Amino acid sequence: MSYKIINDNCLNVLSTKTLPFFDLTFLDPPFNQGKEYSCYDDNIDEKEYWKMMNEICKLIFNFTNNGGAIYFMQREKNAEFVMNCLRNAGFSFQNLIIWKKKTSAVPVNGKFGKHYQIIVYATKGERAKTFNRLRIEPPLPPNYKFQRENGIFLTDVWDDIRELTSGYFAGDEAIRTENGERFHKQQAPIALLLRIILCSSRVNDMIFDPFAGTGTTLVVAKQLQRNSIGIEIDSKNTNFIQQRLDNFRDSDIIEKYFKEYSCTENISEIWGEFFETENKIFQRNKTKTSF
Ligand SMILES: C[S@@+](CC[C@H](N)C(=O)[O-])C[C@H]1O[C@@H](n2cnc3c(N)ncnc32)[C@H](O)[C@@H]1O
Repeated sequence: MSYKIINDNCLNVLSTKTLPFFDLTFLDPPFNQGKEYSCYDDNIDEKEYWKMMNEICKLIFNFTNNGGAIYFMQREKNAEFVMNCLRNAGFSFQNLIIWKKKTSAVPVNGKFGKHYQIIVYATKGERAKTFNRLRIEPPLPPNYKFQRENGIFLTDVWDDIRELTSGYFAGDEAIRTENGERFHKQQAPIALLLRIILCSSRVNDMIFDPFAGTGTTLVVAKQLQRNSIGIEIDSKNTNFIQQRLDNFRDSDIIEKYFKEYSCTENISEIWGEFFETENKIFQRNKTKTSF
């Protein structure tokens, strides 16, 4: 299994370099909402921002295998722009996923408070070459009499994954500097990338993340025996990604989520027979022998 971390501007890399073809892309760009990034202006003209995102999506499309998938995450108010970008690039729309982030809603004057983020799932071609119908086992609603025998199929509303907020609820997973500050305010949860990669890829596939941040995508891909390429403009982040991949923290290890998906038919095949932790590879359901 291989991974590659590139410290550069993804637009530059995608337009000038030869890359292997991707089976799945997770696109989590800065949202252009004035957040603090050391190497990037997160407050550019809207038109310029969407022109750049259009260009990036087109280049990703060219590097995507037929039937390959893209998941583009953005603020709910930008759903229309995200869909346009993907359509203009040539992708076929599949789902508008609502990620209801298990955190308090953000109050807004004069309209409803904001409680979710969107992830648009699209494919190159009408049909996905890989779409694993995952089953999960959410808690039983109070009016249900009997336990479900076999969980339920995952839908387009994801309300069971907590966002990594700044405070106490972020738990151990949020990476912190020595003084307790968040290392990266936009770090995506392991559970989110795990779900996306499980749904839309197979063992040995190539996963691409053009705005890699703290490398969450690569961390999950490596454990699931998928190849990956991450591009990140800030060298502080790329250095950190390398460290994170060399030494998984307990909170990065995906094995604790296996049970959540255990009612999925062929989950062992989707998840892979092997898993990697502490830089050793183990075979699932066998005596843990490293090799
Ligand atoms: C929303 S964050 C991604 C967070 C990531 N999903 C994670 O789990 O950590 C966006 C990242 O894109 C990086 N970035 C901004 N412009 C970029 C560009 N043109 N090319 C590559 N990376 C860029 C920023 O430095 C930031 O780390």
